[in-house]
Amino acid sequence: MWSTNREVAAGDVVIIWQTRELIQPLLITPGKDFNSRFGHYRHSDLIGVPYGSKVASRNGRGFIHLLRPTPELWTMALPHRTQILYLADIAFITSWLDIRCGSRVIEAGTGSGSFSHSVARTVGPRGRLFSYEFHEARAEKAREEFIRHGMQDIVTLTHRNVCKDGFTIESMADAVFLDLPAPWEAVGHAKNALRKDRPTRICCFSPCMEQVLRAVTALNEAGFTDICMYETLLRPHEVQQFPAPLSLDNIVDKLKRLEKFREEKRLRQIANSKRKREDDSDISEPDKRARTGEPDATRNEGVPSISNLPVLPVADSETNEEVAETTVNWSKVCHEVRGHTSYLTFARLVPYPAGTSNGETEDLPATNE
Ligand SMILES: C[S@@+](CC[C@H](N)C(=O)[O-])C[C@H]1O[C@@H](n2cnc3c(N)ncnc32)[C@H](O)[C@@H]1O
Repeated sequence: MWSTNREVAAGDVVIIWQTRELIQPLLITPGKDFNSRFGHYRHSDLIGVPYGSKVASRNGRGFIHLLRPTPELWTMALPHRTQILYLADIAFITSWLDIRCGSRVIEAGTGSGSFSHSVARTVGPRGRLFSYEFHEARAEKAREEFIRHGMQDIVTLTHRNVCKDGFTIESMADAVFLDLPAPWEAVGHAKNALRKDRPTRICCFSPCMEQVLRAVTALNEAGFTDICMYETLLRPHEVQQFPAPLSLDNIVDKLKRLEKFREEKRLRQIANSKRKREDDSDISEPDKRARTGEPDATRNEGVPSISNLPVLPVADSETNEEVAETTVNWSKVCHEVRGHTSYLTFARLVPYPAGTSNGETEDLPATNE
């Protein structure tokens, strides 16, 4: 999948990271330009640049980062043709369905291929992803992407209505993932496609509770067991650096200096007023202040606040030596959470032992489940 070279080459798909909200894929095509509010770039200028580099624009309007695609970045950058699965759901589904290197997995529908890219990486060249999509244009687009990303030996994409026509494989899949408007219509077909020599797993992705109920009913009727439902939520934290808060000693010292400063000022002003009263002038007090530049004591003019008094160097408590002002890391929850999109209903298909009325297998091989 994707280039593993150190430097960007013509024909590579790179991820252009502009801001956290603006991440997009780019197919490097000599002769083409890339323009954004962060400047103007020629594709040919990007060839030979190491992946991970920060590249300045030609017109000095900004810079971009050139990243090597990963399934996680692809999910953040891909062109949306449908609703897609995000990282929290993808990771949880992959784990619960026990998808691993060498697994044979079914997904329907392909949609924008977000889930497909992660599964393709997990199953690797020894595994297989059978992906089904009934929307012809979407299937074609996904096929082009899979080829461009070097996944054609791992992913087999079929243009097909799986609810009506079922899957193209029988008794072969280790796991099935259904992201369809009516997954219950495909549950029977999924059962046919799952292997019968060991326990297998299925997941139905449903946006609302009514659909979960229908999926659960269909799974029960088809003989699936261990049915359970999860909702995954992502809570990303953002870590930022701030100057460390002042020590208590430092704050006390600042307050003391502030008090001393105020007291000196008050005494100076009392002395000044006394002297001026003796002048016996009929010029008003504000006018006098304006002439002499004296601040108004009643309004605390000229008195610094605690926040703009200089910070004293902090002393190390053990050596009593001065140390430079330090910073601390703060972690806060990000506001925007792209996580929940649906409810995940999982179930297992455990083959009946040979000789029972529903048995579909001769002899069950030993499994690790
Ligand atoms: C929400 S999208 C799937 C998104 C995908 N999981 C992803 O992560 O990008 C659902 C897809 O299922 C397709 N679909 C709906 N009913 C189908 C059916 N009966 N057979 C095959 N595909 C179907 C739709 O055309 C749509 O592209």
